[in-house]
Amino acid sequence: MSITAIIVAAGRGLRAGGGQPKQFRPLAGRAVLLRTLDIFRAHPWVDAIVLVVNPADAAELTALGLEDSDAGTPLRLVDGGADRAASVRAGLAEVQTSHVLIHDAARPLVAPALIDRVIAALDASSGAAPALPVTDALWSGASGRVTGTQDRQGLYRAQTPQGFDAQALRRAYAALEEVASGAPPPADDVEVARAAGLDVAIVAGDETNLKLTTGADFARAETILGSQVDIRCGNGFDVHRFGPGDFVVLCGVKVPHDQALVGHSDADVGMHAITDAIYGALGAGDIGQHFPPSDPQWRGMASERFLDHAVALAAERGFTLSNADCTLICEHPKIGPHAAEMKSEIARILKIAPDRVSVKATTSERLGFTGRKEGIAAMATVTLIAT
Ligand code: CTP
Ligand code: MG
Repeated sequence: MSITAIIVAAGRGLRAGGGQPKQFRPLAGRAVLLRTLDIFRAHPWVDAIVLVVNPADAAELTALGLEDSDAGTPLRLVDGGADRAASVRAGLAEVQTSHVLIHDAARPLVAPALIDRVIAALDASSGAAPALPVTDALWSGASGRVTGTQDRQGLYRAQTPQGFDAQALRRAYAALEEVASGAPPPADDVEVARAAGLDVAIVAGDETNLKLTTGADFARAETILGSQVDIRCGNGFDVHRFGPGDFVVLCGVKVPHDQALVGHSDADVGMHAITDAIYGALGAGDIGQHFPPSDPQWRGMASERFLDHAVALAAERGFTLSNADCTLICEHPKIGPHAAEMKSEIARILKIAPDRVSVKATTSERLGFTGRKEGIAAMATVTLIAT
């Protein structure tokens, strides 16, 4: 199965107000449309994205840096139509995959797991869409008075993305075109598919997958985003062997010793382990990848440079360092007398309060290479929080 996500973003957002189409408005600091695209770009099963836009929004699209691109998940921009169905039809014409997911740009809080459920259901059905059973009582009303009640049994609130066999949906849209003149536009793609006789499976929707429709929905969505905390944990491990010398550098502190640690840089195992833990939490490789030992420019380099780089990368990706915990494993030198200085040195480089840093040590009970005093090992854990 190959999958294209069509993101429909050609509407005017009249009900939301706000002076510009809602998909370009910031939601907790990031444009709604970029948030929606982020999710589909990151989804491992989405092979391509077709973004349906309004020609009147050229300036907004440029401001967001949106244009055709082949980097990562390929992105194509196409012009939409007068109603949502016309926009979907324009998007469908660009689809080259076996399956298609159609999603409202105005639903930026869709969870990857919900997308997974829709895709999984497409194995057994020509269509699949998320929905939530109606739980409130249903009334009809007129002039501010209840005029009747309706059984909610078997009623659902539809969401997107709605997924289909691309060929079958194209045929359904073609059939719609033949009947259409004068008929009201379909509410969604499931309606189009069902009119052509396609089977559509219902998968569990998600209360947070709301469609930004009114101004108040923005406040609701920001509350939901505020309660979603993205916490990343990373670990790092490093070893350096002893060689001739009279001091070692551990967590940025020069400690007199009857041997030195051998390494390409200053061989600060503690700082290397913390640096790797940050790269680990970011899913950004390791120290050797960013500073290859084969490259002579890093020879004798103070390890602070490496840690600085990892800290800057975390900040660049929108993460704050919450804490770091480092354990040095060696029989000698004794770490205790230097631990406080190491802690404040690491806190300074990480730009966090010293009480968020721990440097501790253990021996390995004279077992193994650290026990035989052949070298020093260090392990570290860090926590990053998206801000
Ligand atoms: N949409 C579209 N082309 C249209 C109309 C709507 O691509 N001609 C898209 C919207 O951009 C939105 C999604 O379809 O992402 C759902 O539509 P809706 O919530 O109704 O958005 P708008 O039509 O923009 O808003 P409104 O109806 O309040 O004007
Ligand atoms: Mg609309």
